[in-house]
Amino acid sequence: MTPEEFRQRGKRVIDWIADYMERVESLPVLSRAEPGEIAAMLPDTPPERPEPWDAILADLDRVVLPGVTHWQSPTFFGYFPANSSPEAILGDLASSGLGVQGMLWLTSPACTEIETRVLDWLADLIGLPEPFTSRSGVGGGVIQGTASEAVLVAMLAARDRMDGNAGLTAYGSTQAHSSVVKAAKIAGVGRERVRLIETDDALAMDPAALARAIDDDRAAGRTPFFVCATLGTTSTGAIDPVEEIGRVLDRPGAARPWLHVDAAWAGAACVCPEHRQMLGGVERADSFNFNPHKWLLTTFDCSALWVRDRGPVLDALSITPEYLRNRASDAGAVIDYRDWQVPLGRRFRALKLWFVIRGLGAEGLREHIRRSISLASDLETRLRADPRFEVPVPRSLALVCFRLRGEDARTERLLERVNASGEAFFTHTRIEDRDRPGETRLVIRAAVGGVWTRAEHIDRAWRALDREAGRASL
Ligand SMILES: Cc1ncc(COP(=O)(O)O)c(C=O)c1O
Repeated sequence: MTPEEFRQRGKRVIDWIADYMERVESLPVLSRAEPGEIAAMLPDTPPERPEPWDAILADLDRVVLPGVTHWQSPTFFGYFPANSSPEAILGDLASSGLGVQGMLWLTSPACTEIETRVLDWLADLIGLPEPFTSRSGVGGGVIQGTASEAVLVAMLAARDRMDGNAGLTAYGSTQAHSSVVKAAKIAGVGRERVRLIETDDALAMDPAALARAIDDDRAAGRTPFFVCATLGTTSTGAIDPVEEIGRVLDRPGAARPWLHVDAAWAGAACVCPEHRQMLGGVERADSFNFNPHKWLLTTFDCSALWVRDRGPVLDALSITPEYLRNRASDAGAVIDYRDWQVPLGRRFRALKLWFVIRGLGAEGLREHIRRSISLASDLETRLRADPRFEVPVPRSLALVCFRLRGEDARTERLLERVNASGEAFFTHTRIEDRDRPGETRLVIRAAVGGVWTRAEHIDRAWRALDREAGRASL
């Protein structure tokens, strides 16, 4: 393909994406493909000769779209959002165009220096304390692929920082994301060495229970080395009390465990000063992570990790073979982000974040968060006003958890029918039934936060819920 052909064909791809943005709300949100259906549309063997570009593009509609669950649909309310703004798409495209591999500062100084500066901007935008910025000279931020990689990097640094590996033990609440256990498996700590700490009525970690678990483990000769506090749990958006957890860890005595704050989804809300109370005590944390690729308009993958002291991360992850040596790195004059992550190679991911922050400004980011929360609050109001529904845990930011009163089976059928209608898409979780200890209740989660979601889309989702809930067979 010549550059001129690329120009022509590229414009058609941009047109296709723009058309997709315009029509995404008319497509069934959840893909209706059966297992194997998409693969069956592909030939068994790759083409021997180049195929016509028209045929390739046409297959975006014929083959790909039927197998897409539309995360960018304004009535996608499942999991957490993975929003992809036009600004981010163009930044990602520019990154592909440059095709930079930014493992070392030397391999593209712009890739490293823009990332460092943009993560300082982002730290300031969400109100992280100065020690987490690169300006401190000790801490700083780095873009990881996912929150799962961020917790792994933090855990590897924590493990490295501990003298001796006897009975290393990690902690998170019962509501912590499964990536904490996965990191413990990968780090060689073992899943059985992760203690899941009880939560209070709001499903937030109980610091007193954490203190008891740490004391018991120390008394038994084990080494508490890592604690993950979650701001915005995956199930219900619960907020762990970072300040109190930090105080438990700061008690004098044995070596202090590393405190990692996983704010994968909720961290984005801190661009609005009125939501920053959740950051209380964050200065006691060693690392903080949130995903601009969830709720901050930046196309997957972009997970921002900040550490207060980069030293343990570098100690854990830096290995320098001869072929990567160069004068700038040897002089310690530059950041080489390969030392801050598990893989060696890395894309120019900062470009899409830079485009998003510049294209929307802090104002645009705040507007997106505030709109999402206000729309979620509208949905909550309707649910609470309808006696068929209950909202068993308080709304957290833009996440509303609800169920039909009575048997779980009714809520399950409601979820299936609304999702099958294609008009909206929700996912579920289970929460403990406080009235019947040991039992759980099924709830539907509505995570509002799409780029294109507006009041009319909440109306549409509500109409689908209302209609299906009213069906006699439920
Ligand atoms: C609280 C929390 N932590 C971690 C993750 C994992 O995110 P990622 O897909 O970026 O690894 C999620 C995903 O939803 C999450 O909700």
